[in-house]
Amino acid sequence: MNIAVIGTGYVGLTSGVCFAELGNQVICADIDEDKVNRLNQGIIPIYEPGLSELVVKNKCLNRIVFTTDAHYAIIQSDVIIIAVGTPSLPDGNVDLSGVHAVAKAIGQSINSYKVIVNKSTVPVGTADEVKRIIKQNMTDKSIEFDVASVPEFLKEGSAIEDFFHTDRVIIGIDSPRAEQILQELHKPLKTTVQTTDIRSAELIKYASNSFLAMKISFINEIANIAELVGADINEIAAGVGLDTRIGSKFLKAGIGFGGACFPKDTKGLLKIAENKGITFKLLQEVINVNKNQYQKVISKLEEAVDDLNAATIAMLGISFKPNTDDIREAPSLNIIKKLIAKYPAMKLKVYDPAAMELARKVLGDSVSYCQSIEEAVTKSDAMMIVTEWEEIVSFGLEKYKELLKRPIIVDGRNCFIPDEAEQLGISYYSIGRISGVTQ
Ligand code: UDX
Repeated sequence: MNIAVIGTGYVGLTSGVCFAELGNQVICADIDEDKVNRLNQGIIPIYEPGLSELVVKNKCLNRIVFTTDAHYAIIQSDVIIIAVGTPSLPDGNVDLSGVHAVAKAIGQSINSYKVIVNKSTVPVGTADEVKRIIKQNMTDKSIEFDVASVPEFLKEGSAIEDFFHTDRVIIGIDSPRAEQILQELHKPLKTTVQTTDIRSAELIKYASNSFLAMKISFINEIANIAELVGADINEIAAGVGLDTRIGSKFLKAGIGFGGACFPKDTKGLLKIAENKGITFKLLQEVINVNKNQYQKVISKLEEAVDDLNAATIAMLGISFKPNTDDIREAPSLNIIKKLIAKYPAMKLKVYDPAAMELARKVLGDSVSYCQSIEEAVTKSDAMMIVTEWEEIVSFGLEKYKELLKRPIIVDGRNCFIPDEAEQLGISYYSIGRISGVTQ
């Protein structure tokens, strides 16, 4: 099939290259000329395992091209995937200007029947809006087209794996012709395909992400209780997760969810409900719990180190989760901002395996940037683990103890076993577990 993907962010680039890998002809269009030039040279703008190899391979096979010419991408294709950003506006509503601009471009360029697929996460009713804008901008009103909603469920850091091994594909559509084309397109994925009406598909995405966010806030609240009653959150999550109705995933207590999706989509759904006169109180609490959770590492650090203003603290991990350089809505940023404001004389040494460049852009010279774990930890008064990168976990407690000035570890991601830390003489603070503080 000939596919155009408009927008080459995480979703667009990953979907585009994966559809090319399945044997389709893909044209990815983006307004960012610099990005397009780099992609054409095989340089990938984001850190995503396996993505670079797939882009290079499919470029060599001439199955994928990158262009700034959206008109060309549109006229060459049977299916057009809209994958532009839909950020939150200050009032909580979703900024749809990118989606609207693409709809206008499609209307102006459309030359034959097309299926337009919305992959950007958008409020219910956006497909109708896209349809209206396309129609409004068409010169030849006799050309037919359909608009569908096929939400993405890709996780950053495992997006390629998720694309090829997805639990389901949701196709929101109101035309048998388009449904057949989209069924055909997704057939090689050999997964459950649910076809439904467009508005339900649009809401499935918000409901899924909000439910997962709720699981995280729920387990974080249980962790806070576990600490006070002397229980262990990892044991609790394991026991609770054995109930197949609940499931074991997304029950890892920590410092709260971040990233480009959960914070935006929970706020987005809250607003969708509010615009219809409903206060989604449960979801509001999910967001509130998450807003406070990052403070856990700060209060534990305060408990462990008496004079933080005179201390040197190592912070390991900045990205919102491992295997990505993405720092959007990362809890690390809140932790850093709060620590700097409260303890202006504290020296904060930060290290992340992938996110240093982006961190530098956001944090400027408010922190010291380190080239390695060793550099950050050596002679520090204490260290915090903020992102559970494999490199940070496998470094090992012994080595941390050896390099730290004082053996204090505040672990926001429960990477180690408290008893093991205690046996090594480390004062170990984690989330929702009895701390292994040495006497
Ligand atoms: C998410 C959804 O999983 C995906 O389906 C959707 O399409 C996009 O949003 P992503 O944002 O890449 O994907 O990250 P995810 O792995 O879901 O993690 C989100 C956040 O939740 C991270 O900050 C992570 O650290 C946190 N998290 C996740 C927990 O704190 N505990 C958990 O058990 C799981």
